[in-house]
Amino acid sequence: MYTHNLNRSAALGFVAILLAGSQAALAQNGAEQQQQSLYDRLGGLAPISVVVSDFIDALVPDAVLNANPAIDAARKQVPAPYLKYHVTAMVCQATGGPCQYHGRGMKESHAHLNTTEREWDRMVILFKEVLAKHKVPAKETQELLDIIGSTKADIVVLRQN
Ligand code: HEM
Repeated sequence: MYTHNLNRSAALGFVAILLAGSQAALAQNGAEQQQQSLYDRLGGLAPISVVVSDFIDALVPDAVLNANPAIDAARKQVPAPYLKYHVTAMVCQATGGPCQYHGRGMKESHAHLNTTEREWDRMVILFKEVLAKHKVPAKETQELLDIIGSTKADIVVLRQN
């Protein structure tokens, strides 16, 4: 009877250790997934630079945006590679990557463009199209949209369409 109890508690102990072990493994797995930055989940700087490049290539010739004379004038003056460089650095930094953005603030660099809500919406559509083209998953797409969205108050200055 005594031996039986010992065996039983030993067996229970073993099961408890197994459970604790697998729970620890699960917890560790979850923590690793949580620790992976958006930057890493997007694949790092190379894919980010390609997505940004395609995004700028879609924005620069866009008729809806260029109907705004201030945007049209600026895109003729400001080189696309310059925008690609700065926006890539910004996205890299904002997603947890190793880059540092050294460009101007969003208010300062967009104030003269008089960007409307309608133009903002157009930019978001073009951004989503580029992300879809590159098969960026829904979760990462949403996180990128949130990052972009956080700059809206500094960029959209006229509230009418
Ligand atoms: C409708 C939305 C937007 C339009 C039409 C737009 C257009 C432009 C234009 C024309 C410039 C050059 C301005 C100049 O130097 O005269 C510029 C600069 C820039 N934009 Fe945007 N932009 C938009 C939204 C955004 C967003 C959402 C981001 C990033 C989250 C962004 C990041 C930048 C950066 C980093 C620069 C360069 C800043 C510098 O020169 O230091 N833009 N944008």
